[in-house]
Amino acid sequence: METLIKPEPLKRAIEVVVAAGGSEAAEARLVADNLVTANLLGHDSHGVGMIPRYIDAVLEGGLAPNQHPKATLDTGALLALDGCKGYGQAIGREAMQLAIQRAKRSGSCIMALGNTHHLGRIGHWAEMAVAEGLVSIHFVNVISHARVAPYGGRDARFGTNPCCIGVPLPGEPPFLLDYATSAVAQGKLRVAHNKGEKVPAGRLIDPEGNATNDPRYAVVPPFGAMLAFGEHKGYGMAVACELLGGALTGGGTWHYDESRKQRVLNGMLTIVLDPRQLGTAAAFEREARLFLDWLRRSRPAPGFDRVRIAGEPEREVRERRSRDGIPMDQATWEEILRAADKLKLARSRVQALARGE
Ligand SMILES: NC(=O)c1ccc[n+]([C@@H]2O[C@H](COP(=O)([O-])OP(=O)(O)OC[C@H]3O[C@@H](n4cnc5c(N)ncnc54)[C@H](O)[C@@H]3O)[C@@H](O)[C@H]2O)c1
Repeated sequence: METLIKPEPLKRAIEVVVAAGGSEAAEARLVADNLVTANLLGHDSHGVGMIPRYIDAVLEGGLAPNQHPKATLDTGALLALDGCKGYGQAIGREAMQLAIQRAKRSGSCIMALGNTHHLGRIGHWAEMAVAEGLVSIHFVNVISHARVAPYGGRDARFGTNPCCIGVPLPGEPPFLLDYATSAVAQGKLRVAHNKGEKVPAGRLIDPEGNATNDPRYAVVPPFGAMLAFGEHKGYGMAVACELLGGALTGGGTWHYDESRKQRVLNGMLTIVLDPRQLGTAAAFEREARLFLDWLRRSRPAPGFDRVRIAGEPEREVRERRSRDGIPMDQATWEEILRAADKLKLARSRVQALARGE
């Protein structure tokens, strides 16, 4: 069963759980705000449902509250940061603020952020730069569990390695492309498994490497593996995310046997660029406008009402969920309350805050 929770009360409820895990008030607010925003945009796989895992990671020592990024190199155009295993929601924000400052000053900045805990929805970071009129490109690796098989391989060797491109657009909200390189997010496979549904072809293989449409192989042992989107093309992008987000940032790549740890580390290579300083601003505005108009005049295919660009679907969901509330299933809410139990925080307090009391 699902209930609807209004975003502000949900933030207050999540904030109090994160604070009970040892975070200062400002950090707890950032984490809650970031996760609830992911829910508001329709990406529940990266919303408040992450809290139980974060709290387990804090209790295990794999996630350190109240950290700040440490610069290991800062030439202005190049910035290398150690995320110190801190909350990605806080580290990511500070890191992006530093990169944005430098890109505004010198036209661009390449920022290598390694060793930070889960950065959540990567689009959140592109949005910070885009809000300042900057282009923002991100390659991210995930050190958590190997879930995705290489093209031509039969067992999982890396994570769901997301990539993201944000482009500010003249006279309209930005282009915001943000997705995992796996054909489908793992959270969506868990939902399909719980509902007894099958998944479309091309998403999964069983432990022998045979194609399957049974989501159990991504959820319960014996595990098969997820596939990258677009066969060799998505696979290549996933490897690029590992090489750039993992190896080049110094944060590390995935090359282990299965881990029992709850922590999720991300490495992120970010390129921030100021289009106004490239000398092509007038052409950029004109050509972007012309292209988008041309694109949107495409006749809708069966089953579609119109052509959209990346970022639009999330803005539509945000409008609906801001008004109606965020759907919360009972299992996810119970897991959040159990995380509060582990921190000796009264469930009744969390529940009252979520009700807006
Ligand atoms: N931090 C991590 O370790 C990690 C790992 C994996 C994924 N993620 C995050 O998970 C989130 C979800 O990833 P996903 O792979 O499930 O995303 P997805 O498959 O839902 O794709 C989302 C992207 O496709 C665009 N899109 C969707 N429908 C469209 C349409 N009809 N027309 C045009 N564009 C359309 C969206 O605007 C968005 O840019 C992302 O925010 C990603 O950053 C994070």
